[in-house]
Amino acid sequence: MEANIYIMKLPDGPRAPAAIQLMLTLFRPLETLEEYQKRYGDIFRPMIGRGDEFVVLSNPKAIQELFSADPKLFCSGSGNKILHPLVGDWSLLLLDGDRHQSQRRLLNPAFHGERMRAYAQLIRNITEQVTSNWTVGKSFIARSVMQEISLRVILQAVFGLDEGERFQQLQRLLCGMLDTFDSPFKSSLLFVKALQKDFGAWSLWGRFLRQRKQADRLIYAEIHKRRQQSRFDGEDILSLMMVACDEAGQPMTDRQLRDELMTLLLAGHETTASALAWALYWIHKLPTVRDQLLKELASVDKDADPGEIARLPYLTAVCQETLRLYPIALFAFTRILQAPFRLMGYEFAPGTRISPCIYLVHHRQDIYPQPKQFRPERFLERQFSPYEYLPFGGSNRRCLGMAFALYEMKLVLATILSRWELALVNQRPVRPVRRVVTTTPAGGVPMVVTGQKSAYY
Ligand code: HEM
Repeated sequence: MEANIYIMKLPDGPRAPAAIQLMLTLFRPLETLEEYQKRYGDIFRPMIGRGDEFVVLSNPKAIQELFSADPKLFCSGSGNKILHPLVGDWSLLLLDGDRHQSQRRLLNPAFHGERMRAYAQLIRNITEQVTSNWTVGKSFIARSVMQEISLRVILQAVFGLDEGERFQQLQRLLCGMLDTFDSPFKSSLLFVKALQKDFGAWSLWGRFLRQRKQADRLIYAEIHKRRQQSRFDGEDILSLMMVACDEAGQPMTDRQLRDELMTLLLAGHETTASALAWALYWIHKLPTVRDQLLKELASVDKDADPGEIARLPYLTAVCQETLRLYPIALFAFTRILQAPFRLMGYEFAPGTRISPCIYLVHHRQDIYPQPKQFRPERFLERQFSPYEYLPFGGSNRRCLGMAFALYEMKLVLATILSRWELALVNQRPVRPVRRVVTTTPAGGVPMVVTGQKSAYY
């Protein structure tokens, strides 16, 4: 008998009108996802508008099948169109096929090997500079300080710039552009094209367009300056991109350089800043976690190699658990089928959008007992497969900056915790909220400096 006689048509899913489902996903994403999973299981089909089918997946075995299949069976770049206003046509986030592959190959060395070691000193120095004005009693918003650190780190890594007027203007403009989408309400601007209207500099979209134009002017000015000086020998990522050629021997155009730079600047700091703010929250919310972490950091030699810090088991587990409990991206990129594909007993047609839900996988009771609890020990007790733990996605689209982000998280935390004593301003639980296309702690985690130490790392 034909096996596919048993194939069910399509998975079940909520049938509320698409606009209502979109609003629920924007304003109550975690509760909505959990409710759908409880009701429909590991695979469900919400409605997100007219057109192609959309499927949410939270079954590790099915995600393994998806991530292990030939990448040519899927597109993802075209599913990221909402990011177009921020990053442009040539961003790695929006590319597919051979173009995506060759651009990834080109950028990869900037985030691995020797380059990473060079970033270590940079990360420590910037963390020290940004926190140098702290005094006992000073209160601050953890996310804002972490954003200043991560933005300066990525600007320096990308342009080799960390001072001067151009650097400061870029820093201000990039923050301003992202602040346009810093709440669930405002991030609906990205999702609903009809709202993208320029009503002048006082309107949200109008201000965003003007800030983007100014940021572009600064980025192009830097590119032109480099071309005129023929200065391509720097250690920074722009230098690397300017000497690189594609398979046909063509160098990147100014437009391509701009889009890729914008991608790295935005993807490379917004995410890490939220992850660091969450880590500081959990560490100071749970005294046992803080004590254990401080004990581990105190055991490290003052002149320890940054690689040694990055290998510390408890610090690593704290970062892993931070990214498990509230993954910065709730979903990996949507995989859009280019050919029929079978998964969990269903046969999906080309055009179907399959979205691996990182949040729901990370909250599976069968893999992570008491999933709502912050317990770094779970990462010391057992190993999780890349389909059970996937804060950086997987397959050919796995986060390009994964190693960089983890390295930065660990070095920033080690530098701060070994110099400062901090506390949360209040003990109220912090909720995750949407910011642009990521989730971040609501209110940014207000903290206060309670003491200064003679640094032991
Ligand atoms: C804690 C920090 C970060 C998290 C949680 C994170 C998460 C992710 C996720 C989930 C994806 C999609 C992967 C997939 O669909 O399989 C992604 C893609 C990407 N990330 Fe990150 N990311 C972080 C930091 C960074 C940093 C620091 C950079 C750059 C410096 C970066 C650059 C990128 C790029 C360029 C892509 C697109 C890759 C492609 O399309 O091939 N990310 N990231």
